[in-house]
Amino acid sequence: MDSVISHHLFYYAVLAIPLVLLTYWITRRFSMYKMKRVVMKAEHNYQQQIAALQVQLSGKVNMLESMVEKLQLSNQELNRLNEIRSKFMSIVAHDLRQPLTSIQGFTSVLMMDGPQGSGNGDQLALNNILKATDNMNQLMADLMDISMIESGKFKMDFKHFNFNQLINDVYALQQVNAQKKGLFLVRYEYPNDVMVYADRFRISQVLNNLLGNAIKFSPQGGRIELRYFLQDGWLVCYIADEGPGIAHSEQGKVFQKFHQADNERSAKKQGWGLGLSIAQEIVNAHNGEIGVQSPGLGQGALLWFRIPVDPSAFEI
Ligand SMILES: Nc1ncnc2c1ncn2[C@@H]1O[C@H](COP(=O)(O)OP(=O)(O)O)[C@@H](O)[C@H]1O
Ligand SMILES: [Mg+2]
Repeated sequence: MDSVISHHLFYYAVLAIPLVLLTYWITRRFSMYKMKRVVMKAEHNYQQQIAALQVQLSGKVNMLESMVEKLQLSNQELNRLNEIRSKFMSIVAHDLRQPLTSIQGFTSVLMMDGPQGSGNGDQLALNNILKATDNMNQLMADLMDISMIESGKFKMDFKHFNFNQLINDVYALQQVNAQKKGLFLVRYEYPNDVMVYADRFRISQVLNNLLGNAIKFSPQGGRIELRYFLQDGWLVCYIADEGPGIAHSEQGKVFQKFHQADNERSAKKQGWGLGLSIAQEIVNAHNGEIGVQSPGLGQGALLWFRIPVDPSAFEI
């Protein structure tokens, strides 16, 4: 009896195995089919999203392209306007300067011919005309320099020259101006000849500007010191005064175009805030440095610059 049961069990088992296998196979196929469908659906979704993004992207690209085009156009327009402005400035400067120079010349002649001193009204008027034309002439010269700087045409003319002699020339000129204002301009001689390779005219312009500022801003009776020396291959120049000084917050700004510190109102009126920016441009073109030191308002100012004596050691 037992053997019959086990016999049957054996046959059931044999029959069940393919059935189990078949069920397993069908379920696998079915789940794989389902997975495939899910993947296909997701793929389809992604493709749709990608297509939508591509449309959006090409729209953005088109927008960018038209913006770039517009920018290029406005850039061209800006360049054109910039050129016109530079031209305009140099024309104005040229055309205004010529008549000014002749007015100045004639006034000086008249002043020499007329009776000196004695509070003559004509003399006073002539003096004022001369001062006004001087100021305008300076403005025109500064504007011309700025226009050259902006158009990239501000070129230095490097030559070897004796710096001591340049100091003599500048000192002689500024000494007269200092005396007129009751100031003591003191020059410290350097014991040796200092030969430099630089633009003589432009370096004298820097010196005249720094000394001109010192004279303009100093109160009557003040002392101004001009000092120069050689140090580690540099020619260093110091101009110190006892004027109103420059506040710390202003010291970085005074070299910007048209910037005037709020330290001395009446002196401020006699200028346009261009001198130091031009001086900085000149010193930079010599691979030099320019700076200001002032302990604070009311405590005087020290303006300094340095340029390499031997530019072959530097790249110019
Ligand atoms: N020696 C100085 N003492 C006090 N302030 C000075 C001196 N030099 C320059 N400054 C300040 O720097 C400003 C810029 O100088 P600058 O560019 O020469 O222009 P400007 O002389 O036409 O005013 C001046 O307006 C002044 O406020
Ligand atoms: Mg000045």
